[in-house]
Amino acid sequence: MTTGRPPVLISEAAITARVEELARQISTDYAGTDDLLLVGVLRGAFIFLADLSRRLTVPCSVDFIALSHYQHGSSPSGAVRLIMDLRVEIAGKHVLLVEDIVDSGDTLAYLVRMLEVRRPASLKICTLTRKPDRLTSGVRLDYVGFDIPDRWVVGYGLDYDDTFRTLPYIGVLEPTEAAPGR
Ligand code: IMP
Ligand code: MG
Repeated sequence: MTTGRPPVLISEAAITARVEELARQISTDYAGTDDLLLVGVLRGAFIFLADLSRRLTVPCSVDFIALSHYQHGSSPSGAVRLIMDLRVEIAGKHVLLVEDIVDSGDTLAYLVRMLEVRRPASLKICTLTRKPDRLTSGVRLDYVGFDIPDRWVVGYGLDYDDTFRTLPYIGVLEPTEAAPGR
């Protein structure tokens, strides 16, 4: 069990300001759209989605999808499994996938493949954080909150072994207590 408060990488104030900017950008881009569907990827995206959605000025509905991503040690295996599907049909809707973090990009690549066959009117991706050093899958990210270093980050929805999700800021774990090899 990891204890103590991880050092701050992105403060609560910085997150609030950036979420506000993203919401403004998304509201501009989707102006006039009346069937925007925000799809939160559980569990990590729940806080970001809650804050982002409340700042949008365009009408939208919300749904969730849950995936599990298998890791082999510190390197992602690329194997992703669907745990819980959407409740709604997305055909003809403008879908915005909302993610907490893009690391290798495998999770998103899987999701995009899965959702595109359902024929949404459009499919875009918004992620709060991205680790550019590790991105290996060729997914196009439409909105990125923060580029972060290749460290294990927690808080604001992000966890380490299910702890730290409810920290109000994004902190970084020391290499010794972080996931192996990070
Ligand atoms: P992917 O490698 O882009 O497929 O990311 C897989 C998943 O690993 C993400 O959706 C997160 O759940 C998790 N993840 C990757 N890096 C971190 C991190 O630094 N902190 C917390 N979770 C992470
Ligand atoms: Mg995630």
